[in-house]
Amino acid sequence: MTGNEDVLLVHGGTPLEGEIRVRGAKNLVPKAMVAALLGGEPSRLRNVPDIRDVRVVRGLLELHGVTVRTGSEAGELVLDPSNVESADVADIDAHAGSSRIPILFCGPLLHRLGHAFIPGLGGCDIGGRPIDFHFDVLRQFGATIEKRPEGQYLEAPQRLRGTKIKLPYPSVGTTEQVLLTAVLAEGVTELSNAAVEPEIEDLICVLQKMGAIISLDTDRTIRITGVDRLGGYQHRALPDRLEAASWACAALATEGSVYVHGASQREMLTFLNTYRKVGGAFAVEDDGIRFWHPGGPLKAIALETDVHPGFQTDWQQPLVVALTQASGLSIVHETVYESRLGFTEALNQMGAHIQLYRECLGGTPCRFGQRNFLHSAVVSGPTKLQASELVIPDLRGGFSYLIAALAAQGTSRVHGIELINRGYENFMEKLPGLGAKVEAA
Ligand code: EPZ
Repeated sequence: MTGNEDVLLVHGGTPLEGEIRVRGAKNLVPKAMVAALLGGEPSRLRNVPDIRDVRVVRGLLELHGVTVRTGSEAGELVLDPSNVESADVADIDAHAGSSRIPILFCGPLLHRLGHAFIPGLGGCDIGGRPIDFHFDVLRQFGATIEKRPEGQYLEAPQRLRGTKIKLPYPSVGTTEQVLLTAVLAEGVTELSNAAVEPEIEDLICVLQKMGAIISLDTDRTIRITGVDRLGGYQHRALPDRLEAASWACAALATEGSVYVHGASQREMLTFLNTYRKVGGAFAVEDDGIRFWHPGGPLKAIALETDVHPGFQTDWQQPLVVALTQASGLSIVHETVYESRLGFTEALNQMGAHIQLYRECLGGTPCRFGQRNFLHSAVVSGPTKLQASELVIPDLRGGFSYLIAALAAQGTSRVHGIELINRGYENFMEKLPGLGAKVEAA
């Protein structure tokens, strides 16, 4: 690519046609890399995508003395935690604002070193994204936390102890925090109202391979019996169901057909049901799923995001672009993040008709109902989309803008595409491979 690396010209109006591959899930791989810190021996992680979150975590692990090298197979990392050591605060701080994963270093570093320094977090601007649950649970394990100007400093005056925790909301990150801390804590930890996303189950598999004892009850209670030491693991990361769904929505919105190698039906059941209700077609094959627009009008639907096994919030933004092409009124109620619909303003500039509401328009009132957040949307369609100047707001919103630009008539200028690199491997190569007409500005 030449020219301005962060601005993409998208010449829209061409259906995406072809095949791509998704690799390991962005929302599992960096966490499995953190888990390697807990082990006494090296771990081997396969199906690792080349995305920015992986590079950030690799950098942080290396700062703490973990040797990370690529394995013999493409997408394989070997992580050796034999010489874990304290890192320089200034070096850690260089990663401030780059990702949300550093918060998950707390438990493993407290176990290995007795202290941890966590820089300011990054991640998508889709709501307040507080970390109060994380610190509440760490305190329950016995950690002390001090806020310093450069970040958070944590200490474990003695071995962390298992505890009984009930989460106020089934937070993915806090559930992972508990898992990564409880496995080496003394005694039993009981976590109720836990999140049970497929990526969390995969992290449990990783930890069990390392020697952890973890059970998951049907009522979303997780019980962890702490052990004295953990070994390494060998694991192939589950595929990225969020990236797969993004490409599926791109196929639908552009009236194309995309075969997503590596996509797995099991983790996408809810998405696939919704895709079918909207009028999208898919075929599950041995090595992936083919998604296409079967012709004819798409159908409006009512949709509510939720924790797993509900409709994942990260699927919402790409699907909304496809809903602008459906006949009638679609209703979208975002219940996980209070501010994940702001991206629709740019879609309206392109010709979409999307109205936001503060009320809960879904069947179930959510935590945001009485709190003045624009967290429900009514999408009326179909509307023809016109090219526009677009500034990417967050990861999934950014990919949604790419989809909208690809579906629109004319040439859009999309600014801030670097943000998409955080979670979409090689998308700049994948797009032309699917026939998209894109070029650097
Ligand atoms: C993970 O974020 C994912 N990120 C998100 O994906 C995903 O949208 C989210 O889970 C929900 O599935 C990663 O895995 C790196 P949460 P996480 O804790 O763990 C509130 C993407 O685009 N909350 O489940 O940060 C929070 O504000 C990203 O791939 C607190 O109030 O999400 C939110 O409303 C975006 N206090 C809700 O819980 C806390 O201490 C769910 O957040 C923690 C969370």
